[in-house]
Amino acid sequence: MPHRVRPDRARALRRRLLLAGGLASLAGLAALGGAAPARAARPELLVRFSHVVASGTPKGQMALHFQRLVAERSAGRIRVEVYPDSQLYGDEDELEALKLGAVELLAPSLSKFGQAGLPEFEVFDLPFLFDDLAQVRRVTQGPVGRRLLERLAHQQMVGLGFMDGSFKQMSANRPLRAPADFKGLRLRVQASRVLVAQMRALGAEPVVLPFGETRRALARRVVDGAENPLSNFLTQGLQAVQTDLTLTHHGYLGYAVVSHPRFWTSLSAPNRELLQQALAESLEFGSRLSAELDRQALAQVLQLPHLRVHALSGLERAALQQAAQAVHQSFEQRVGHGLLAEVRLTIAANI
Ligand code: SIN
Repeated sequence: MPHRVRPDRARALRRRLLLAGGLASLAGLAALGGAAPARAARPELLVRFSHVVASGTPKGQMALHFQRLVAERSAGRIRVEVYPDSQLYGDEDELEALKLGAVELLAPSLSKFGQAGLPEFEVFDLPFLFDDLAQVRRVTQGPVGRRLLERLAHQQMVGLGFMDGSFKQMSANRPLRAPADFKGLRLRVQASRVLVAQMRALGAEPVVLPFGETRRALARRVVDGAENPLSNFLTQGLQAVQTDLTLTHHGYLGYAVVSHPRFWTSLSAPNRELLQQALAESLEFGSRLSAELDRQALAQVLQLPHLRVHALSGLERAALQQAAQAVHQSFEQRVGHGLLAEVRLTIAANI
């Protein structure tokens, strides 16, 4: 078993549920008072959108874009409140909060759905499966993606769409050019069995940690390194707690926006249509931004004075790929033989 560092989930959830309840009743009180500023007036519909990353990331910007579109198009009737940075819920309790009705929208990374009873989503975690975002998009925006979104209904979620993230790079306090460099390192991963196996295959010890606890764990040397897209690396300030970033480009990290059927079906048809349309546009906006911010983040990390950035040669990357390859066979059954074959075909069908 990988190491699993978890906060007291029940306590954290109770605290956050109280906070959510408090915010809702504050909005209600403001409306009753009549003299409340327009911003605090009770909207006809409140949509709480919680996520775990910084507002400056592509996902954070997507959520704010959605908030703006909904405010404009509903003329303030519908208010989207965005809670970034695990402020309201973290990885360990956000899906539970959605089920309890304490939040209406989430945008978990695809890696988080496996532990929620949807192991097929872990197909996106398979190391070195995708070469570029065009391949990922063919999967997420085609029939495979549609079926995966529908599958979310099996776990009481409504899948509203995918947003591109980007490719992950490895950081530690040494370069990670070859499998031998991973030996003895404790590397943080999301709660995905594929990612746990990937780190083991590379020779490291995986440590499952919520995203919101990663920086502190690195600073305290509870873990030695992590894998992140560059925007998460920078916005979490990991350059202050890691000396080396190796551009391994070894795996994909993307998102799906989900709601709860109870909330989604309670909406009037015009409100649902408005939210759906605004979200579709925001996901496109976020996906475009993701590619752009990734390019900018690369230029930024290369300028950082105290961070050593390592590019891999083709041979070095091939050696890492070979070491991680066994994970594909071991997880074929978990993610589904048919699904994996279809994903591979979609990747190969460069049309
Ligand atoms: C995210 O981008 O949502 C977090 C990913 C992670 O947990 O590493």
